[in-house]
Amino acid sequence: MSPRKRDVAARINQLEAGAQRAKPVLHQHAREIQPYGKIAKLSIALDETACESSIDNLNQILADTMTLRDMYKKHHWQVAGPTFYQLHLLFDKHHGEQDELVDTIAERIQLLGGISIAMAADVAETTLIPRPPRGREEVPVQISRLLEAHEIILKEARSMARQADDGGDDGTNDLIVSDLIRSNELQVWFLAEHLVAVPLLHPEQAKAAAQR
Ligand SMILES: [Fe+2]
Repeated sequence: MSPRKRDVAARINQLEAGAQRAKPVLHQHAREIQPYGKIAKLSIALDETACESSIDNLNQILADTMTLRDMYKKHHWQVAGPTFYQLHLLFDKHHGEQDELVDTIAERIQLLGGISIAMAADVAETTLIPRPPRGREEVPVQISRLLEAHEIILKEARSMARQADDGGDDGTNDLIVSDLIRSNELQVWFLAEHLVAVPLLHPEQAKAAAQR
C-alpha cells in the first residue's frame, strides 16, 4: 500500500472510531440498585421504623390517587349530556390537582428512602378503588364512582395521618392533612353538589302551586 493510501485508510479508521464513540449504547441491563420494599435511609433525623410505616402507607395512597386521577381523565373524555362542557372542564381541573398530589406523594416516598410505585400494572394490583368498566357511563354514575373513590382515599388518609403523627413523621402528617385531605374534601363538595336534585327552570313549590 502506498503511503498516500495508508494515510487515507488511517483517516477513515479514525473517523469511524469517532462515530463509534458517539453511538448510543443500547439494550443495557443490570441489577436494580435498590429493590422495592428496601429502604435507603437519608439523613433526615427520623427513625427507620417511622420511615418504613410512612412509605407503606404513602404507596397505598399513591396507588389510589393515581387511580382517581386516571378516572377523572376517563370521565373528562367520556362525559355526555347537557352538562358536558361544565363537567368536561371540572373533571380536567380535578385531574390536574390529583396529578400534582401524585407527584408530591411519590417524591415524599423517595425522600423517606423508599421506592414509589409508578407503573400502571403495579397501581392496578395495589389500589383499593373498584375498577370501572371500559365503556361510557351516565353522569350520575360517573360522579358516584368519583365520590366513592374520594371517600376511600379520605378514610385511609385520616388513619395514616394519625399513624404518621404517632411515629413523629411530621412531614408526612402535614402532607396528608394539608395537601391530600383538604384537596379531596374540596373536590368532593364540587362533585356532590351535582347530585342534588334541584329543578332547572321552576322552583318545586311554584310548580306544585300551578298544578293545584
Ligand atoms: Fe382534554
